[in-house]
Amino acid sequence: MTHINPERRQFLQYAALGALTAGLPGLVRAEGSKGSKVADPGFKPDVEIALTAKVSDVSILPGPATHVFKYHGKLLSGPTSALRELPGYLGPILNFEQGQKVRIIFDNRLPEPCITHWHGLHVPQVMDGHPMYAIGNGEQYVYEFEVKNPAGTYWYHAHTHELTATQVYQGLAGLITVTDSAERKLGLPEGEFDIPLVIQDRHLTSGNQLRYVLNRHQQMTGFLGDTFMINGQRQSTIPVKTRAYRLRILNGSNSRIYKLAWQDGSPMIALASDGGLLEKPQSLPYIMLAPAERIEIWADFSGRKPGSELVLQSLGHQATTHMGGGMGRMGGMGQQEVISLVKFQIAEQVSDSPALPSSLIPMQRFADKDFTQPERTVPIAIGMRHMTFQLNGRTFDMQDYMEIEKIPLNSVQRIRISHTSGMMRGGRGRGGRSGMGMMMSMPHPIHLHGQQFQILSRRQNHPTAAYDTVKDGFVDSGWKDTVLVMPDEEIEIAKPFRDYAGLFLYHCHNLEHEDMGMMRHFHVG
Ligand code: C2O
Ligand code: CU
Ligand code: CU
Repeated sequence: MTHINPERRQFLQYAALGALTAGLPGLVRAEGSKGSKVADPGFKPDVEIALTAKVSDVSILPGPATHVFKYHGKLLSGPTSALRELPGYLGPILNFEQGQKVRIIFDNRLPEPCITHWHGLHVPQVMDGHPMYAIGNGEQYVYEFEVKNPAGTYWYHAHTHELTATQVYQGLAGLITVTDSAERKLGLPEGEFDIPLVIQDRHLTSGNQLRYVLNRHQQMTGFLGDTFMINGQRQSTIPVKTRAYRLRILNGSNSRIYKLAWQDGSPMIALASDGGLLEKPQSLPYIMLAPAERIEIWADFSGRKPGSELVLQSLGHQATTHMGGGMGRMGGMGQQEVISLVKFQIAEQVSDSPALPSSLIPMQRFADKDFTQPERTVPIAIGMRHMTFQLNGRTFDMQDYMEIEKIPLNSVQRIRISHTSGMMRGGRGRGGRSGMGMMMSMPHPIHLHGQQFQILSRRQNHPTAAYDTVKDGFVDSGWKDTVLVMPDEEIEIAKPFRDYAGLFLYHCHNLEHEDMGMMRHFHVG
């Protein structure tokens, strides 16, 4: 059993890598191996933020304070609404507007290397928080980018080589919102009626300290905790008025997959997914939310009695049939139990409420004619070897990319994410009900850096009873940067690779899987 952060893992010096990658054809490395350490005087920021990661004490439960890693923000210039501090261990919420130029001076005061990634934002390679840019204690990294993404909910988190899971677990994450003019015209609930909900599972010791323990099974499934944190706090009750709200939900957990539903069986009404607003609201019985995925919900409390409550739950599911069920229970709480996440308490009666718009944001759908190389399908094949999950037959290597991972700049590609569990072989050979077969029957939330993609199709080649417990909860209609890939599923997506050349990661966002090397990058150029 390992306790959190007991030993410093050896920090690889990537300085040498600069020389290596500089020689690769087409790779834009003008800023040097360590990216930008100094601000570009020619860049005129609309918003300037100092973001410092440091060891901090926060009060989570009554009793001793909890030691965490926390992002602290300070607005240096720009609108005061750009930064909203939260109590708890999460970093401040960064509120941006499409078209804004943003400068973030990241200061690492942690006792270990760190780098920060803006998950879901379309930014150049050197601004994307690739682990090759990790900085040491006392060093700064200056990010400068334009916010190109449309209105939606994004987030930021540590992306340090082999330390992402432990750093995010200890608190290094925060929410980003983006607004734009098209969204403002819709008159969606705003201000106090626009509520962020970052959901994370943790395990706290009796001394209130975060504990990160992986038993043998969790080394494969990922960490599962038994205490559910909302916005970095043990905040389980939120008072609301009898009207509509916009809930921005992020699954910021390392590996837990939620099956979100209202306790009273009311439908879940989705407004937005990872990359912003949907074309129109979508009603579902429940919503599957894998690590890193965001979903925005229209929650209308009109007509409810003051004093009553409505609980947002995670229903039990069998997404991880063999691994996460019985075995997951040996560590934290398994994924088959019902969890009460947040209680909305109807506190006040009000007379008016905005109406749910029937349509939201138009979306240009990619069609066959849009593919730059129509005959090509880029593979992302989920596999396993030597007890390690792989993508396209390999694990992460800071400097390696294969021929199939070379993507022409400004192209649109068809990508097929495939997950062959081996269970189809009915207990023979590689599959079967034990060992490799069980390992292979895990779902994986696959995330691609860079521009958001569209899901073209989701094909299940081996429907099971376990699959039936999740299949009605996918919101695949909008822009996505992370997609939950179930065993024996084949998902085709269309993804643009515009504007920026360089190395862009794709990986499993189960953070334990990512740190074990279930990550690769595309070379765009
Ligand atoms: Cu949210 Cu490469 O990560
Ligand atoms: Cu990302
Ligand atoms: Cu995975």
